[in-house]
Amino acid sequence: MKVTVVGAGAVGASCAEYIAMKDFAAEVCLLDIKEGFAEGKAMDLMQTASLNGFDTQIVGSTNDYSKTANSDVAVITSGIPRKPGMTREELIGTNANIVKTVVEQLVAHSPNVIIIVVSNPMDTMTYLVHKATDIPKHRIIGMGGALDSARFKYRLAEALECPISDVDGMVIGAHSDTGMVPLTRLASRNGVPVTQFLSEDQLASVEQETRVGGATLTKLLGTSAWYAPGAAVSGLVQAIACDQKKMFPCSLYLEGEYGLNDICFGVPALIGRNGVEEIVEIELSDDEKAKFNAAADKVRDTNGALSL
Ligand code: LAC
Repeated sequence: MKVTVVGAGAVGASCAEYIAMKDFAAEVCLLDIKEGFAEGKAMDLMQTASLNGFDTQIVGSTNDYSKTANSDVAVITSGIPRKPGMTREELIGTNANIVKTVVEQLVAHSPNVIIIVVSNPMDTMTYLVHKATDIPKHRIIGMGGALDSARFKYRLAEALECPISDVDGMVIGAHSDTGMVPLTRLASRNGVPVTQFLSEDQLASVEQETRVGGATLTKLLGTSAWYAPGAAVSGLVQAIACDQKKMFPCSLYLEGEYGLNDICFGVPALIGRNGVEEIVEIELSDDEKAKFNAAADKVRDTNGALSL
C-alpha cells in the first residue's frame, strides 16, 4: 500500500506520522510546494522509525508528482487553514484552485487512486474533486465525520465523566460550525443510551461544543487543529489498506441516498479496499432530518460559489 499525503503542514505531517506509526503501509509519499519542507518532515519522521518501531518508508518531495506514481490512496490537505474567527467556507476561493490542481496531478500519476479530501470547506472541496475529475464516486471520500465523531465522543465522555472507550456515537451532516448533526439519540455508553445519563441541557451543550470543536481549537492554537484530523485520516486510510469495511461518517457524493442528490455530504458508510463499499442508510428523526436538510442547503449554497 502506497499512500500520498499532499501538504506537509501540521495536518499532513500528522497524517503521515499516524499512518507510519500503525505500520500498515509500505510507503508514505509526503508532498509540499515549499522547497525542501516535505523532505525535511519526511527525514525527521524517518528518524523516529527505530524509536517508534515502524518500517513504513516516508519519502518527501517538493511538488514532484512523479514520486506519487501508483499511489493506492492520496490525502489532500493542501490549502490555507482558517485563522481564528474565520469559517471554513471563507477559504473557498483560494483552496478550490489549489485542490483542483492537486487532484489533476495526482490522477495523472495514479489513475486508480482513492482520494481523501481534508482541505476546507471540506464538503465543497470533495464535491469539486467529483466534478473536476472522472474518478468514480466510490473513490472520493471527504474526511469530516470521522473527526467530528471523535470530538463528539470526547465531549460525551467529558459530560459523562467516563472513559472515552465507554462511549460510542456519530456525527453526520456538514463539516461546518452550524451544519454538523450529532446523532445524540443513538449515542451510547456501552450500549445504554446517553440520554439516560445526561440532561437535555447537558446534551445540548455537548452538541454545541462538538459543532464548534474545530473553531474552539483554532481560537486556542491560532490555526486549525492537526492531531485529531491526522488521526481521523489515518483511521480511514487503515480501513482501506486493511479492507476493514469499518463504518465512518464521510462526505460522499449522493445520488438519492437520504433524499439528497448532486452533493457531497456527511453520511455513514463502510470503508474498505474499494474506498466506499456501501452507504449505510439509517432512519432519522424529524428533528434530525430537518437539521440535516438545512445543513445540506447551506453546503449547496457554498458549492454554488465554485466555478465549475
Ligand atoms: C478541523 C479542520 C480539519 O475541523 O476542519 O479541525
